[in-house]
Amino acid sequence: MKITVIGAGNVGATCANVMAEKELANEIVLLDIKEGVAEGKALDMWQQAPINCFDSRTVGYTNDYSKTAGSSVVVITSGLPRKPGMSRDDLIATNAGIVRSVTEKVIEFSPDAIIVVVSNPLDVMTYVAYLTAHVDPSRVFGMAGILDTARYRAFLAEALNVSPKDIQAMLLGGHGDTMVPLPRYTTVAGIPVTELIATDKLDAIIERTKKGGGELVNLMGTSAWYAPGAAAAQMVESIVRDQKRIFPCCAWLQGEYGLKDIYLGVPVKLGKAGIEQIIELQLNKAEMDLLNSSAAAVREVMNVYDGMAKSATA
Ligand code: NAI
Ligand code: 2OP
Repeated sequence: MKITVIGAGNVGATCANVMAEKELANEIVLLDIKEGVAEGKALDMWQQAPINCFDSRTVGYTNDYSKTAGSSVVVITSGLPRKPGMSRDDLIATNAGIVRSVTEKVIEFSPDAIIVVVSNPLDVMTYVAYLTAHVDPSRVFGMAGILDTARYRAFLAEALNVSPKDIQAMLLGGHGDTMVPLPRYTTVAGIPVTELIATDKLDAIIERTKKGGGELVNLMGTSAWYAPGAAAAQMVESIVRDQKRIFPCCAWLQGEYGLKDIYLGVPVKLGKAGIEQIIELQLNKAEMDLLNSSAAAVREVMNVYDGMAKSATA
C-alpha cells in the first residue's frame, strides 16, 4: 500500500513521520514543489527507521506525481500557513489555486484515492478539492475536528489534573473561531464533564479551544504542526486499518443537521471506504443555533471562493 502526502512542510512532514512510525503503509511518499525538500525530509525519516524500528519506506520527490501513482490515501497539506494577524480565511486565494492544481494531479495518478485535506481555510479548501476531484464526497474530507477536540481535551486534562487519555469529546462546525465544542458530549472516563468542572472554567476552556490555532500562531509566528500532523495521521490510520473510528471530520452535508451543500465538521465513521456514516447528534436549540452560525461563517467563505472561481472563468 502507498500513502502520499502533498506538501513536505511542517504539517506534511510531521504527518508522514507519524504514519511511518505507525507503519500505516509499506511506502509513504512526500511531494513538494521546493527542490530537494521532500527528498531530504523523507531520507531523514528513513534513517530514523532503524532507531524507531519501523519498515515503512519514506521517499520524497519534487513535483513528480508519477511517483504518487496508485496511492490509496492522499493527504493534502500544501499551501501557505497563517502568520500573526492573519485569519485562516486570508489564505483563500493562494491556497485555493494550490489545492486545485494539486487535486487535479492527485486524481490523474491515483483515481481511486481517498483525499484528506488539511490546507486552510480548511472547510473551503476541502470544498475546492471536492469540486476538482469529481469523486464521491465520501472520498474527500477534511481534518480539523480531531485537532480542535484534541486541544479541548488537552486543556481539560490540565485543568482537571487527569490523563488526556480519559477525556472524550465531540465538536461540530467550521475550523475557525465559530467552532462548536459540545460540553454535553464531553466525558471524563464516562463521567459527564459538567459534574467535574465549574461552568466558568469550562466556558474559559471552550473559548481557549476556539482560538487555539491563533494562540500558537502568536507564539511561533506560524501555525502548529505536531498535533495537526498527528491528527491527519489518525484519520489515515482509521481508513487504512478499516478501524471504523468515530471522529469529528469536515464532511459534505446533504441535509444532515438541516444543512445542505456545505463542508462542515460533524461526527463521522472512518473506514476503508472513507466516510462510511455521518452521525447526527440530537442537538438542543442552543447547540443548533451555534452550529447554524458556524455554517453561515463557512458559507460566507465558500461564496467568496465561488465568486472568485466564477470571475476566473468569465
Ligand atoms: P508549511 O509552509 O510548513 O508547508 C507547506 C508546504 O507546501 C511547503 O513546503 C510548500 O513548499 C508546499 N507547497 C506549496 N505549494 C505547493 C504545491 N503546489 N505543490 C506541492 N507543495 C506545495 O505549512 P504548514 O505549517 O505545513 O501548513 C500547511 C497548511 O496546513 C497551511 O495551509 C496551514 O494553514 C494548514 N493547517 C491546517 C490545519 C488544520 O487543522 N486543518 C492545522 C495546521 C495547519
Ligand atoms: C490550526 O488550527 C492554523 O488551522 C491551524 O493550528
